[in-house]
Amino acid sequence: MSEQASTAPRVVLGVGGGIAAYKVAHLLRLLTESGHAVRVVPTRAALEFVGAPTWAALSGQPVATEVWDDVHEVPHVRLGREADLVVAAPATADLLARAAHGLADDLLTNTLLTARCPVLMAPAMHTEMWDHPATRANVQTLRARGVVVLDPASGRLTGADTGPGRLPEPDEIFAACTDLLARGAWTRDLAGRTVVVSAGGTREPLDPVRFLGNRSSGKQGLALARVAAARGADVVLVSASALPAPAGVRHVPVETAQQLRDAVVDAAVDADVVVMAAAVADFRPSEVSGHKIKKSDDGGAPTVELVRNPDVLAELSAQRSRPGQVVVGFAAETGDPGADVLTHARAKLARKGCDLLVVNEVGVDKTFGADTSSAVILDRDGGEHVVSEGPKSALAHAVWDAVVDRLPAPSR
Ligand code: CTP
Repeated sequence: MSEQASTAPRVVLGVGGGIAAYKVAHLLRLLTESGHAVRVVPTRAALEFVGAPTWAALSGQPVATEVWDDVHEVPHVRLGREADLVVAAPATADLLARAAHGLADDLLTNTLLTARCPVLMAPAMHTEMWDHPATRANVQTLRARGVVVLDPASGRLTGADTGPGRLPEPDEIFAACTDLLARGAWTRDLAGRTVVVSAGGTREPLDPVRFLGNRSSGKQGLALARVAAARGADVVLVSASALPAPAGVRHVPVETAQQLRDAVVDAAVDADVVVMAAAVADFRPSEVSGHKIKKSDDGGAPTVELVRNPDVLAELSAQRSRPGQVVVGFAAETGDPGADVLTHARAKLARKGCDLLVVNEVGVDKTFGADTSSAVILDRDGGEHVVSEGPKSALAHAVWDAVVDRLPAPSR
């Protein structure tokens, strides 16, 4: 590997033989531009879709498919051993099968066998192939061995057909890669659990073109959903965010606080955990005009009367639809002369009746929509866990760690 490899995280990017290989060129770009040293190892079939010169030029590294190239460097053992992360995308049905059965008939499958670092596979195939019992069993085998197999996204496939089987977006795979590199490994400790996550800022319409809203981007809620799915949960994401939902989650798009309340309460019936990361508007206009509100000629301005929205977190906390259900709230707080941030937050936790409260300190220097955050996770028994500034996925993991600690043992 190049000199850069001595300090940069070393990633082996295995490319499977699927049409989605062209999207992996963008993933490669994201990895190299963020300082990773990437060796691309395509399968023979992958080269039918995107040629070796593309991978070599974008990675700045030699590209090999077979174990017979550069044999003096013993690449079939060295690449896997030296890697900090192996990621395979698109992971075709064939590649998943070969990996699950420990075959070693090309450089990529050899690398998968010699790797002692985290391995992430991002599947892409037609829905029938993904749903086939053979593929399901192979995915289960790989996951049981600690391989992170992402769920495919749902949407347009190669032809006019749609369904589960689409490669997760390169940004999603990239987020999973950096998260895995930072954390070292993920366990599937949320497997068999259903979790509901709300995300984004609600919008309360005034008329057909205007709304009252807030600055929440939804990034923290989306990170919570993405991480929960990666840790094995069945995720329902009730989202008022404009950002795309992560792959492998059930996405319920909403706009208003009332719609969000209805969707969350509905999904909570079957849930082990509900996380209210959404910034829910406390008030809405008492009337919504059916037509655009026009300026009047007398220079006056209309008065908007507001009414209270339901407090979803308080309602969920008071009416647990399942024994042992864990309810998590978020709170953006500032201190004031009367009390500091944590004093306010403790009072809010008690008032809302939730199990955990994730407290972000907000202020003029803290921006909405950022990619990092810090927080304190309070629990109802008096516990306090500080999560220092870092990516939102790191805070998401810390929240799920705290949730897992509180979950009752799964019923069999
Ligand atoms: N929340 C909710 N329903 C609302 C308002 C807030 O479920 N109508 C939830 C949020 O999703 C978050 C938590 O309550 O998990 C705390 O939100 P926050 O706005 O800090 O709480 P408020 O009750 O609005 O308190 P404050 O008086 O400090 O604004």
